[in-house]
Amino acid sequence: MLFIILSNVIETFLLDKTSSEYNQLAQTHSVQVAPLFNQASATKLYTYLVNVSAENDCRAIVVDAYGIVQSDAFSQLNGVALDNQQIIDVLQGGVNVSHGFYHLPSSSGYEKSYPNNLIGELRQFLFNSTDNEWVMYCASPIIFDSKIIGAVLLSVPIESTVAQIELIKWQILIISIATGIGAILLITLFSGTMLKPIRQLTQGISQIALGDFTQRVKVSGNSELAQLASTFNQMSERLENLEHTRNEFVANASHELKTPMSTIKILVESLQHQKKVDPVITKELLGDVSSEIDRMSLLVNDLLSLVRLDEQKPTALLVSQVNLSAALMQVCDNLTPLSFERGIELDLSVSADIAFNGDEYKLKRLFINLIDNAIKYSEDNSIVQVSLHTKSNQIIFKVQDYGVGISEEDVPYIFDRFYRVDKMRARVTGGTGLGLSIVKSIILLHNGDIKIDSTLGKGTTITVVLPYTA
Ligand SMILES: Nc1ncnc2c1ncn2[C@@H]1O[C@H](COP(=O)(O)OP(=O)(O)OP(=O)(O)O)[C@@H](O)[C@H]1O
Ligand SMILES: [Mg+2]
Repeated sequence: MLFIILSNVIETFLLDKTSSEYNQLAQTHSVQVAPLFNQASATKLYTYLVNVSAENDCRAIVVDAYGIVQSDAFSQLNGVALDNQQIIDVLQGGVNVSHGFYHLPSSSGYEKSYPNNLIGELRQFLFNSTDNEWVMYCASPIIFDSKIIGAVLLSVPIESTVAQIELIKWQILIISIATGIGAILLITLFSGTMLKPIRQLTQGISQIALGDFTQRVKVSGNSELAQLASTFNQMSERLENLEHTRNEFVANASHELKTPMSTIKILVESLQHQKKVDPVITKELLGDVSSEIDRMSLLVNDLLSLVRLDEQKPTALLVSQVNLSAALMQVCDNLTPLSFERGIELDLSVSADIAFNGDEYKLKRLFINLIDNAIKYSEDNSIVQVSLHTKSNQIIFKVQDYGVGISEEDVPYIFDRFYRVDKMRARVTGGTGLGLSIVKSIILLHNGDIKIDSTLGKGTTITVVLPYTA
């Protein structure tokens, strides 16, 4: 399309330029030759036409009112009747000039003239096989005493102009084809590179939809697509972690429930196989069954708490204004028998009436879990220090024990569900490894923070910070 438009524009431009130039000449000379022609001064007229032809690189002819050649600069057509359209146009009157293009056998007497350059040479090479040549006729009437007495006809060889036009057309055609092929190649290449990450992403997403969370895509560059790919990778990594945690959680929960269940089964079976029912042993075995059931219900309660805390909805909290100081003292009262049993002194330092907007039940749970740990992992006859104070806009709750402590490697994991440093000991102490996970969830829901300082064999200090607004 562009090729056709460009070719036409160039053709029109070059031909219009030539035709308007020679139209102008034909008109000028028709006026000039009028007196010569009227005087029937054949030699003067001929000389004039020869000069015009030589000067303007054309062939000048004068015809009379009947179209018969009266003088020809090339002296070949004298007496011949010309009937081309341009002569007819101007002799009939009404037009000052008329021009037309003809593809004639090369008998017009011109030397074939190609421009002396690469275009000319190519043109000669491409088109020399034909004997025809392009000529333009420009005719203008010779008027004397307001009467048309003849016409001047300029026959202009335009072979080189046409050659030029044709060659330019060829060039445009070749450039258009090359550009087209280049564009197609570029589009194919570019769309291949562009679409590759999209294809990879689509593939990855389909795999994730099928449950394979190990999918990752290559991230290169800084483009929007690269950002999308990196977000996708983050998402699949998170999904993979979640899947892993979920599997681990289910496995741990099942394991934790299986242990007391197996114990209960063994205890019940040994009761069944007793030949003689000894009330003392039976009571003891039933006592063990009961404590295993307690352990199971504790575990189920913890699991349920975690599930609810995980929902992290505002409804997960029953918020009211809580007197934290009173709540902590009550928790310590309840735990005193436990510490007393092991000769552990519970040293309490609490500022009075610290108010906090939160869920009282969950906050007490937080206190219980942390103080219970401190007692559980302390040596007998040691001391556990508990304090609750405010500092500018913070409520600081601290529990310090001088017990077994936690090694540096274990600290990052102790908030993980079911994580217990010493599984054997935890079994003895009755822990399930969910206490600190619950603590962390409660603190996060109350926009607080928790910090652990621990030295293996020396003791642990746990600090909880809550926002203080009162
Ligand atoms: N004060 C502490 N001193 C030493 N180790 C501790 C202390 N608190 C927690 N830990 C370690 O961190 C682990 C996780 O604690 P967490 O409270 O979550 O579980 P648990 O006490 O074993 O069981 P439970 O679910 O009954 O609380 C414990 O098993 C213990 O190894
Ligand atoms: Mg605990």
